Amino acid sequence: MCGIVGYVGREQAAPILLDGLSKLEYRGYDSAGMAVYDGQHINIQKTMGRLKVLSELTHDGATMPGCVGIGHTRWATHGEPSDVNAHPHYNEDQSIAVVHNGIIENYGDLKTKLEARGYHFLSATDTEVIAHLLDYYYKKCQYNALASISKVVSRVEGSYALGIIFVDQPEYVYSVRKDSPLIVGHGQGGNLIASDVPAVLKYTRDVYFIENDEVAMLSQDNIQFYNLDGEILEKESKHIDWDIHAAEKGGYEHFMLKEIYEQPKTVRDTITPRVSNGEIVIEELGMTDEEIRALKKIHIVACGSAYHTGVTSKYVFEGMARIPVEVDLASEFRYRNPILEEGTLVIVISQSGETADSLAALRLAKSRGVKTLGIVNVVGSSIAREADKVMYTWAGPEISVATTKAYSCQLVAQYLLAMKFAHVRRQITDTELASYLVDLEKLPNQIERLLSNKEKIQKFANRYSGAENVFFIGRGIDYAISLEGSLKLKEISYIHSEAYAAGELKHGTISLIEEGTLVVAVVTQEELYAKTISNIVEVRSRGAVVFSVTNDNNQAMESNADYITYIPRTNKYFTNSLAIIPLQLFGYYVSVCRGLDVDKPRNLAKSVTVE
Ligand code: G6P
Repeated sequence: MCGIVGYVGREQAAPILLDGLSKLEYRGYDSAGMAVYDGQHINIQKTMGRLKVLSELTHDGATMPGCVGIGHTRWATHGEPSDVNAHPHYNEDQSIAVVHNGIIENYGDLKTKLEARGYHFLSATDTEVIAHLLDYYYKKCQYNALASISKVVSRVEGSYALGIIFVDQPEYVYSVRKDSPLIVGHGQGGNLIASDVPAVLKYTRDVYFIENDEVAMLSQDNIQFYNLDGEILEKESKHIDWDIHAAEKGGYEHFMLKEIYEQPKTVRDTITPRVSNGEIVIEELGMTDEEIRALKKIHIVACGSAYHTGVTSKYVFEGMARIPVEVDLASEFRYRNPILEEGTLVIVISQSGETADSLAALRLAKSRGVKTLGIVNVVGSSIAREADKVMYTWAGPEISVATTKAYSCQLVAQYLLAMKFAHVRRQITDTELASYLVDLEKLPNQIERLLSNKEKIQKFANRYSGAENVFFIGRGIDYAISLEGSLKLKEISYIHSEAYAAGELKHGTISLIEEGTLVVAVVTQEELYAKTISNIVEVRSRGAVVFSVTNDNNQAMESNADYITYIPRTNKYFTNSLAIIPLQLFGYYVSVCRGLDVDKPRNLAKSVTVE
């Protein structure tokens, strides 16, 4: 989704804005632009397409001199992707420029009112109302920027992170947010705003996380925070200790491949601090054994791949700890008036910690008075801050839109929780816990082993990169794995692909199977082998080509699949962590083979900050 940056300092702003925007590319966008104050005017350059088009247009920023500016990558919501809809947007006399991440829900009403007052709109965006509304209130508030920003914020409904510059206040960049991410970087000789930390890391590691309805006023040497009543706020900066290189490709062709290969380490980093002397210690959970025993129900709420980890966890929590689990897509949960009774724990899973629906679901759960736990990757993000408790996944920055390493870390974080709950609730013995731990701690090396064997998958991907339809099937946890395998393929290869519970095929989808259709069958659950194989037989007899992901030495598969990839043996609850590896590689190599933009697939965003 849209990314914003802003800079005020001693250096030329445009190259810094371009660099910052390049670190936000992962969020997904279709156009980009910058506004820079040149000593007299605010100049805007904006264009459809990738950042390199904007770089070319401005000769890497050289044609936009000035030390104060704001920049934007736009992921279209209101109005098609186009030059005119790209941000920044001006007010009527071009004395104010605005960039915006979020959605102004009442923009229609505001636009009608502004038009009645004589304002003219050039674009089809919701953002342009902010530029004109600011103009209106700036004049009404005797050119007091803070007062006019507060007025605007009191009139708009929806979500926003705004970057604003005024021609008659050329030494300042202003910013305010509600429900869209925003950070402020405290640099040497210059300060920055951005949607995410990587955009400022080249210039500073000292960062402020901005809360809803806080206004930041940045000048070259100073940063001041205000509430909407204009009162000064004291905020503490956080020192970011991860490295900029963590957000760079490091010799890999794509971020996605790099992130796939980082999984042994990140999975280990997520497990290790929580295992001590044969015990699982999750201090951040902040629950006593009595509270764990008193749990009556768990709701897992998330979007996209994070939701798929929740589907897996339902089998794990219910199977291991015997706690009833409901798994919901956050966009459904928030509008379905869920029954949340005492003794319920709501777990919200999110890589970014900023997904609008997941955040809204968390707030709903909190408003109903139940305990909430965030499983989050981005430290200090909104979900991490707002959940009662947060358990971090230690995946490090994930740049590729298609998640891999964060997904794997979310899985093991949930295994740890399930094992802890199962043990405390005496559903598993000390011996069983010890055996689960042995399997859990083996996972990083087993993932490594799978990754060292990628050539076979690469060849298979080359062969099937022209497929038009692919079906993923499995039962139980294998169905959950299929959901993610199918998503990985479709989101980056644009091949139509569906995941189906294998037993459900004959209720409709089997009619789509014809000669040569590729079916990926995930078969890791031993007690379900025979059942899934009978579904495989059904599709093969209708001409399907079957590629199976199954456990080492599963001889039952040999005569039942056209291609097989084996995963090392592990506990039945943990097979997702291994089976997903060949499926991630499959999606990746199909996309490469089709010559697509693997890390930035069309229409998709990494951080979905609008609903
Ligand atoms: C987007 C990303 C997915 C991610 C989903 C949820 O669709 O492309 O990779 O799974 O959002 O994001 P979150 O940050 O909440 O995990």
